[in-house]
Amino acid sequence: MEYSTILFQVTDGICTITINRPDKLNALNKTVFDELDKAIDRVYMDSNIKGVIITGQGSKAFVAGADISEFLEVSEKHGAALADRGQQVFFKIEDCPKPVIAAVNGFALGGGCELAMACHLRIAGSNARFGQPEVNLGLIPGYGGTQRLTALVGKGKAMELVLTGAMVHADQALALGLVNEVVAPEELISKSEGMLKLILSKSPVAVAKAIKAVNSFDHSRSGFSEETRLFGEAFESEDKREGTAAFLEKRTPNFPGK
Ligand code: COA
Repeated sequence: MEYSTILFQVTDGICTITINRPDKLNALNKTVFDELDKAIDRVYMDSNIKGVIITGQGSKAFVAGADISEFLEVSEKHGAALADRGQQVFFKIEDCPKPVIAAVNGFALGGGCELAMACHLRIAGSNARFGQPEVNLGLIPGYGGTQRLTALVGKGKAMELVLTGAMVHADQALALGLVNEVVAPEELISKSEGMLKLILSKSPVAVAKAIKAVNSFDHSRSGFSEETRLFGEAFESEDKREGTAAFLEKRTPNFPGK
């Protein structure tokens, strides 16, 4: 299977999926979601694959968010569908019975932070930066960020990060519990592989059941639907129109507040 926006490589049972749009800081467009979806299906089905590392191409970004330029192309009525599509792909990652580690090699913003949080573990290079900056665009996180960030760091800090859009460095992310480990950037992949190999040395039956059990902590998932609905509402706002236009025109937004 050929991909145009991701790299898919399997070595010694470890599948490395690399989001590969470095000139756009690996922003997630529709094709990336489609290819990621297919890649994860392959992970589920291929018995040669024992575990997964997801990372970004280049040294600057893991993923700098959903592709903001697509937000102008998608009809304002389809914001909820956009969020739902992303959430379904990320649920597939979260529910994967094989361990999935995010190797965060730079900016993990918006959908990038959400992708990292959908993985079972996060290892960050010391140059990584995390944030949910959607509020700058007149939007809210739509791929599970309001739910998974709250689960990982607690309501107070999640609220702060979502309302301010502020970025945190890798060390702060470690202190918050947003990442599991911070390593030197040049060691990111080897340390991620080391963690994965440790898990792969355990019982695959137990690992799969442990993933399912820990995920059951948030068994209702009702907050995700509410996030989808509210993202859809924000997507129709004049603030979103202004926020996305301002980003693409590289200027500060002037929100009308409606
Ligand atoms: N969607 C679409 N394009 C994006 C993008 C995104 N989320 N993030 C970065 N890009 C593009 C930029 O438009 C730019 O493209 P260009 O060279 O054609 O102009 C390119 O990637 C490089 O980004 P740039 O902004 O020039 O790099 P920088 O070092 O000045 O800033 C960031 C880096 C990450 C701070 C900045 O790109 C940013 O704020 N990105 C958006 C983050 C965001 O809001 N994500 C949430 C989306 S819901």
